[in-house]
Amino acid sequence: MSRIFTAEELLAYDGAEASKPVYIAVKGVVYDVSASREFYGKGGPYEAFAGRECSRALAIMKVDAAECNGNLEDCTEKQLKTLDDWIAKFNTKYTVVGKAAEPGSAEEADAATRRAAAKPGSSGKWQDEQVDMDEIRKTMMRQSPFTPGLLTTLVIVGLLTALAGYILYIDMTGQQPLEPHTEL
Ligand code: HEM
Repeated sequence: MSRIFTAEELLAYDGAEASKPVYIAVKGVVYDVSASREFYGKGGPYEAFAGRECSRALAIMKVDAAECNGNLEDCTEKQLKTLDDWIAKFNTKYTVVGKAAEPGSAEEADAATRRAAAKPGSSGKWQDEQVDMDEIRKTMMRQSPFTPGLLTTLVIVGLLTALAGYILYIDMTGQQPLEPHTEL
């Protein structure tokens, strides 16, 4: 029997921990994408998808955690076809490890109950808040246009511009006025 993941359980496989596999869900099917950790793992170009149901993001071709959900209601035929192409690719490339419980479904409630029962003594509340804060922080990092790479580039470009200006300045102030070439 394949495992059923709640959204919260799936998020535990977001690639943040190198020792854990990385999972993504597409149309409710959970794939183990650990083989492509360089894409979906921490710092990878598609880390926003890791640990999430990313059908919508794949359909509309947006690498954005905020678009990672199963809502395809307003998607065009072309976008739905794009999603089917992704699914075909994932089916040939990755192993299916389970199903994502539909939000609000009985399956999800069952999975959540099972999980709470497996951890006696934990209220769950404090942990939920931790996950939420982590999620917000990650989303903010992702949405900020000032990625560490961009900041480094800006600093280097700034330094080079200042250096070029300084050299130009030395060059201009150090240069003697040209003598008229009357004797040539
Ligand atoms: C400038 C735009 C982009 C470029 C140049 C680009 C390039 C690439 C390349 C070279 C790969 C590796 C392909 C492979 O080795 O199999 C890749 C994988 C991937 N791309 Fe993009 N990409 C772009 C935009 C996007 C966008 C907007 C999405 C949003 C859905 C996306 C989703 C993906 C996914 C999910 C994979 C991994 C597929 C897998 O697991 O095998 N890419 N991309």
